[in-house]
Amino acid sequence: MKAEKIIELIEKVCPKNLAYSWDNVGLLCGDKNKEVKKVFITLDSNITTVKEAVEKGADMIISHHPILLNGIRRIDYSTAEGQMLKLLIENDIPLFAAHTNMDTVKGGINDYLSKLFSLLDVKILEQHTDDKTAGLGRFGKLDKSVTFGEFADICSKTLNTHVRAAGDFDKIIKTVAVASGSCSEIIPTAKEKGADVIITGDMKYHNMIDMTELGICVIDAGHYPTEICVINIFENVLKNTDVEIIKSENKDIFKFI
Ligand code: FE2
Repeated sequence: MKAEKIIELIEKVCPKNLAYSWDNVGLLCGDKNKEVKKVFITLDSNITTVKEAVEKGADMIISHHPILLNGIRRIDYSTAEGQMLKLLIENDIPLFAAHTNMDTVKGGINDYLSKLFSLLDVKILEQHTDDKTAGLGRFGKLDKSVTFGEFADICSKTLNTHVRAAGDFDKIIKTVAVASGSCSEIIPTAKEKGADVIITGDMKYHNMIDMTELGICVIDAGHYPTEICVINIFENVLKNTDVEIIKSENKDIFKFI
């Protein structure tokens, strides 16, 4: 199957126009006419994951996090980015990214998280295009209320990680907001929409204090644990095609010691 056809299948699920303007999505490097038998799916794209893709004989990379996000003015092979681009080009591996379009689309990462937590009556936290079914983050209700302490425990088990939880541990949690990756800027909106807790990643110390002072509990479950489900979403899109799917061994950069 041509790379172009794979791109078409993915963009049918998460249209490009749902991506934020600052983002970099779509075919970011390589030949759309490449014949693809093995596709490598990954959360991150960097020298490590691209090397893994080359070693495993992949013909194409589908990534959540984009490359070249901040623009580029030189390809210097002494840098990690330069080496990564060299590997991609020398091995003729097209790289395609679905980033904020996959975060925000109906059925994307945040809907996946909502399902994982069995949220009911799920709504969008922040609509960002004319598409009313898409937007950043979700919020919904738990079937049964629990305390924040209990919920933090549920969260760590559900996402199979350690979480950093801040707020009143006796607070009753009924409405839960989810915002995958780095989404601390959406916390005030979650509070306005009535969320008792928000699960996100990449919280900074002072920001955590400021946000919990709004009266919302915050769980920092980490960037990787809140987004790694994207691998399952990519897999679902491609599973009925004749391409072989290789899942990256890409692990969370953070280890708990
Ligand atoms: Fe991310």
